[in-house]
Amino acid sequence: MKEKLDEIRAVASSAIAAAETEKEIEELRVRFLGKKGELTAILKQMGSLSAEERPIMGQLVNEAKQKTEELINEKKSEIKEKATQLKLKAETIDITMPGKAVKTGGLHPLSAVLDDMIDIFQSMGFDVVDGPEVETDHYNFECLNVPADHPARDMQDTFYLGENLLLRTQTSAAQIRTMENRKPPIRVICPGRVYRADEVDATHSPVFHQIEGLVVDKGITMCDLKGVLEQFAHEIYGPETNVKFRPSFFPFTEPSVEVDVTCSECGGKGCRVCKGSGWIEILGAGMVHPRVLKSCGIDPDEYSGFAFGIGLDRLTTTRYKISDIRLLFENDKRFLEQF
Ligand code: DAH
Repeated sequence: MKEKLDEIRAVASSAIAAAETEKEIEELRVRFLGKKGELTAILKQMGSLSAEERPIMGQLVNEAKQKTEELINEKKSEIKEKATQLKLKAETIDITMPGKAVKTGGLHPLSAVLDDMIDIFQSMGFDVVDGPEVETDHYNFECLNVPADHPARDMQDTFYLGENLLLRTQTSAAQIRTMENRKPPIRVICPGRVYRADEVDATHSPVFHQIEGLVVDKGITMCDLKGVLEQFAHEIYGPETNVKFRPSFFPFTEPSVEVDVTCSECGGKGCRVCKGSGWIEILGAGMVHPRVLKSCGIDPDEYSGFAFGIGLDRLTTTRYKISDIRLLFENDKRFLEQF
């Protein structure tokens, strides 16, 4: 019986040592220690022993049971611990790994310059208004005193969508809409896209951007025009920039001027950008023609005003020293990421 017991113990301990899962261990517990288990079965055979042998054998069997139970428990916690370690390892987060870089977008250079311009004019009390890009001949030309035989009305210069419908060639159309909808005092700017049937090259694009300005009130004079536009030029190009008002002609203003600023590339010495003149033209302006005021129902004897139209693309290319206007429209990320 003792030999049998030793044999069971040996088998049990090597089986337990070899077990790898909790399920296997549980099966071994039932096999050796369960009610019908091998060690329990030996206890049941004790009846056949003599009275002296019984307590000794009983003690040995109990010892064997205890020992086996210990082995099983040890193995069980070993398996559990191993599983926990594996799980922990699999779930480890390496907090020293570099994070995923989030690329933020940036403003298109045209938008950045426009935002600055809006800030400047808003600080002088101007409202920002919007106007349609598809316009009628009436608003784009007629009300702006552009005569029927003016070359700008030619098919070669204007994109027509129908007999009287066109893509606006100038944001000036918004002046008329504003005067129809607001009573003086008026102080607005209207930024937006304009279209002309131009050939594409380094300085021309069939789509470009203007910012129209309009001021109408009692007693507005050329001094107000000069003051506002000089202030604007100094804020955009810096206080050392010279500003020159040149007589010019526009059908919707009288008198009319064009405004030049010192070339920011050469500082006025003359270079390729300013074609040797030392000046860059940035806008057209003038006192609103009495006929234009009248056509919008504003009495020119009581009110006067000035208007201006700034080319946003030229301003942007000179400010950032961009050599070709086409770059502004191609949306090449390698170009845009530089701003
Ligand atoms: N509309 C003119 C152009 O496209 C620019 C301009 C000139 C606008 C004089 C004005 C102005 O409001 O008064 O060339």
